[in-house]
Amino acid sequence: MAESTAFLRFEGIVAGYGGGDVIKGVDFSVPQGGVTCIVGPNGSGKSTLLKVVSGLLRPRLGQLWFKGTPLVGLTPREILQLGVVQVPQNHSLFREMTVEQNVELGAFLLKDRKVIAERLKNVREIFPIVAERAKDKAGSLSGGQQRIVEFARCLMLEPELVVLDEPSMGLDPKTLRLVFDTIKSMNSAGRTVLLVEQNARQALRMSHFAVVLENGLLRLSGSGSEVLNNPEIGALYLGGSIETTSKAVSPAPSEL
Ligand SMILES: Nc1ncnc2c1ncn2[C@@H]1O[C@H](COP(=O)(O)OP(=O)(O)OP(=O)(O)O)[C@@H](O)[C@H]1O
Ligand SMILES: [Mg+2]
Repeated sequence: MAESTAFLRFEGIVAGYGGGDVIKGVDFSVPQGGVTCIVGPNGSGKSTLLKVVSGLLRPRLGQLWFKGTPLVGLTPREILQLGVVQVPQNHSLFREMTVEQNVELGAFLLKDRKVIAERLKNVREIFPIVAERAKDKAGSLSGGQQRIVEFARCLMLEPELVVLDEPSMGLDPKTLRLVFDTIKSMNSAGRTVLLVEQNARQALRMSHFAVVLENGLLRLSGSGSEVLNNPEIGALYLGGSIETTSKAVSPAPSEL
């Protein structure tokens, strides 16, 4: 079966909250070992689709396969245990707790103190801020620093699939680069990344595979550069406008 060979496969996913469907039938596969990016306008259903992955929202129809295991019906905890960890769109650290306490919370599924200590040591090496600001309240960190601590917390479970919902939201260009570099290095370390991003150009440049979601349906999918270089998509979703469509047809590489 195709679904048992894909790393993560969305199959006929329909999902919503009350009356109507927000996700209206979505099929695609996330390849193992790469960065996959979901782009699309505000309200197109990107976060909703990620909530289905983490088990926070049960789809009305369809199935989601992770390495051949059906995820629909599993609790968020069971999905975490399978190695799928999500960093949500809004900042999610406990502001009154210290940086270190927050990071340790990422290991709440683990029992063995030795394993937790070992992972904390690894995470401190990857993200020096976890050691430097260990005893500071998480709420005293800047938005970008909090994002890095959220990444550190998610790595405590050594996930196979890291799901990130708009990690660069609200960050200045320099911090944004740091966050993107961090995503690249998590991926180089062997973790598959599924990413939703508003900074679509930068995200697509580092993505192996990308899908464009529009009004709950897949408008387009392909390699990051295929989506990036699609003139219509460029004009509509990548910061262009209809008036600049003619210019966007053959953009200079430096413009991208
Ligand atoms: N908890 C909820 N209850 C009811 N409706 C919701 C809920 N969360 C989202 N929606 C609706 O679902 C639609 C899609 O929202 P979603 O957050 O998935 O979009 P998005 O693509 O992530 O947008 P953004 O780029 O702004 O983050 C919107 O119309 C939104 O109002
Ligand atoms: Mg969203």
